[in-house]
Amino acid sequence: MSKTIIISNRLPVQLQISDGGLSAIPSVGGLATGMKSVHSGDDSLWIGWSGLTDEDIPNILEPQIDHALRELNCSKVRLNKSDIEGYYFGFSNRTIWPLFHYFLEYSEFELDFWESYKAVNQKFADAIIEAADEDDIIWVHDYQLLLVPEMVKAKRPNATIGFFLHIPFPSYEIFRTLPWREHILRGLLGADLIGFHTYDYERHFLSSVRRLLGLDVSFNDIYLEDRVIKVDSFPMGIDYHKFSEAAKKSIALQGKHRSDLQKKLDEHKRSAPGTKLIVSIDRLDYSKGIAKRINAFEYFLNKYPEYKEKVRLIILAVPSRSNVPQYQLLKREIDELVGRINGELSTVNWTPIWYFYRSLPFENLIDLYTSSDIAWLTPLRDGMNLVAKEYIATRTDKTGVLILSEMAGSANEMNEALLINPNNFEEQADTLKQAITMPKEEQMARNMFLQKRLQRYNVEVWANEFMNSLKSQRKAVGTFVSEKMTGTILDWITTKYNSSKNRLLFLDYDGTLTGFHKDPQKASPDKELYEILDALHHQENTTVFLISGRDKTTFSKWFLDRKYNMIVEHGVWISTKGEDFKMLEKVKGDWMEKIRPVLESFVDRTPGSFIEEKNYSLAWHYRNTDPDFGQKRATELNTVLRSLIGNDDISVLNGNKVMEVKSSNVNKGRASVRMLSQADYDFVFAIGDDWTDEFMFEELPDSTITVKVGLQKTQAKYHVEGPKKVRELLKQFIQS
Ligand code: ADP
Ligand code: G6P
Repeated sequence: MSKTIIISNRLPVQLQISDGGLSAIPSVGGLATGMKSVHSGDDSLWIGWSGLTDEDIPNILEPQIDHALRELNCSKVRLNKSDIEGYYFGFSNRTIWPLFHYFLEYSEFELDFWESYKAVNQKFADAIIEAADEDDIIWVHDYQLLLVPEMVKAKRPNATIGFFLHIPFPSYEIFRTLPWREHILRGLLGADLIGFHTYDYERHFLSSVRRLLGLDVSFNDIYLEDRVIKVDSFPMGIDYHKFSEAAKKSIALQGKHRSDLQKKLDEHKRSAPGTKLIVSIDRLDYSKGIAKRINAFEYFLNKYPEYKEKVRLIILAVPSRSNVPQYQLLKREIDELVGRINGELSTVNWTPIWYFYRSLPFENLIDLYTSSDIAWLTPLRDGMNLVAKEYIATRTDKTGVLILSEMAGSANEMNEALLINPNNFEEQADTLKQAITMPKEEQMARNMFLQKRLQRYNVEVWANEFMNSLKSQRKAVGTFVSEKMTGTILDWITTKYNSSKNRLLFLDYDGTLTGFHKDPQKASPDKELYEILDALHHQENTTVFLISGRDKTTFSKWFLDRKYNMIVEHGVWISTKGEDFKMLEKVKGDWMEKIRPVLESFVDRTPGSFIEEKNYSLAWHYRNTDPDFGQKRATELNTVLRSLIGNDDISVLNGNKVMEVKSSNVNKGRASVRMLSQADYDFVFAIGDDWTDEFMFEELPDSTITVKVGLQKTQAKYHVEGPKKVRELLKQFIQS
């Protein structure tokens, strides 16, 4: 039976050694609490860090630790102190975390951190490779392990790998500042499916992939060599049932059975009836906006002094990453703020802020949720924020008000909450007042919608949707495009090649025989290519045509003295055996005067684009433009041209980062079929990467061996990855 392997930095439990004995506490944070509900049964294995370093673990305890973890279907990755320093406290939490949360000024770009991050990611990848069977599904989590998918894919090309990022993916403008940005993207692209909490994070990621790696992206599919990688958003849910049941249980407990914290909260309610409790729960993290929230609370009390002694703010800040300097500074700042405000505003009957800096047991968390009239969550940036969802789930009588920052991923799905901008104190003060005075009916009406949604799209549904999408992605890859040119197929083609008596080969040039270049003139043939083409050209019983959209001047310069057969401008001109180019099709060029100014206006408005003028066609190239902008302009130009052309004599071809306007009666399909009709061929072969090559694939007879370069939808029978593979294939023909 296949199993699911979950990989994250932290395991769901953190091990501790005290007095020589072993104990386990639950991990905090959205990832661990969410995935814990998904990880169950023997068909799931969770690989991660135990919370202890090699130095912490005495040899004698090692078997006990492994045994305890095995009981939980977990397995540990061994990390030493220096790994944790460089990879966890360093690159993960001093580089990626601040950068991805838009705290650019906190982000440190240290080579040592990066080296350690790579090495530790490799340790995780090795642990997966060792544990995974052929048909297992591998699900990698979060920003600590961005390189793992590629590392696993390198050793296990057939493995099914999903990746989910639990934090925001920043806009391209932020991401591009990272010195190792391409490595990070390539690391992620080892996965078959990459998931984010929101569409915005997904769109930011796709934009970086396009701009930094120059890969083709179509909707949410990324084309990388012979793979298609799917990117999608899956907003993470919570274990709704667990939270609502725990709330019911906590409310039902009577007298002495109630927790100490609950007793204190009850006492507060009894002694100050009519007062409101506002709660906020976060890890102590600068992204959570805790200091701003405290300042905003002071602002509120000054703006609406009538609420002094009527409201109390409970802050639960869970210790987090306390070795990182920014977290230490924040801790000091919050201590001071709370001290100052309580010092200034407290009365004998009232302390405005109750501040807890500790990790509380789950039951106490529930006590806080159920006893508070308002939850006030103000992250400056947050991937999701599950606390907001948990608060709503515990409101079994449907009362309670949630005030939530727009900057949290969860705000996208929680429209009925009071959404605020955490930087706007005026708005926050007014919203607090609105929350305090909100009628019960309104609270219940809002929460009813929220609860319904959270109940339906819970963490289980979230995980299932991700898994189903991952599985169907793997299936789709096989059927989506043409068949991959495997060694067996190539052998079969070569045998056919050898036994044939008269062969005809059509070879596209750009993107097929050679890669793309920023300046098309610089994509000239190299020595190896000349050798291959010479050898093919001189083979007995073999007619080779270079068939291209290029102009005849360039091809004459590169190939005429070698006497290759050439068809250029998509079929307007032909040259055979070193003769000058002749017209293959009768075409008109009078339309060009009208279209040229239109293209020129697009060049003026699209930096990096340019016009290539051929004898009977005009091409607008946009390979060197900003990818998003260029694509947008291409769509615009397409609309403009189609409305201008309006007759059948001229057509627009959408090539690879080029749009070409040309006579309709010219295309590579028509040209290749004409060549085919001139002799009796028993082996016909056509290869190309572009949209314009599809005409050949479509129009040449069925018996033709058609090959697409790259993994895009095609009419060709087979596909190969790129020019390197094309050359290998042609060399097989030569050697035979
Ligand atoms: P983040 O993942 O950034 O920490 P989230 O709000 O998404 O933020 O997730 C926090 C998770 O940690 C929640 O599921 C919450 O229940 C849990 N949590 C927060 N405080 C505590 C605590 N004191 N003890 C146990 N779990 C906690
Ligand atoms: C966030 C991250 C998690 C992380 C958690 C707690 O939720 O997305 O990956 O585990 O914070 O942080 P910590 O550094 O203590 O693991």
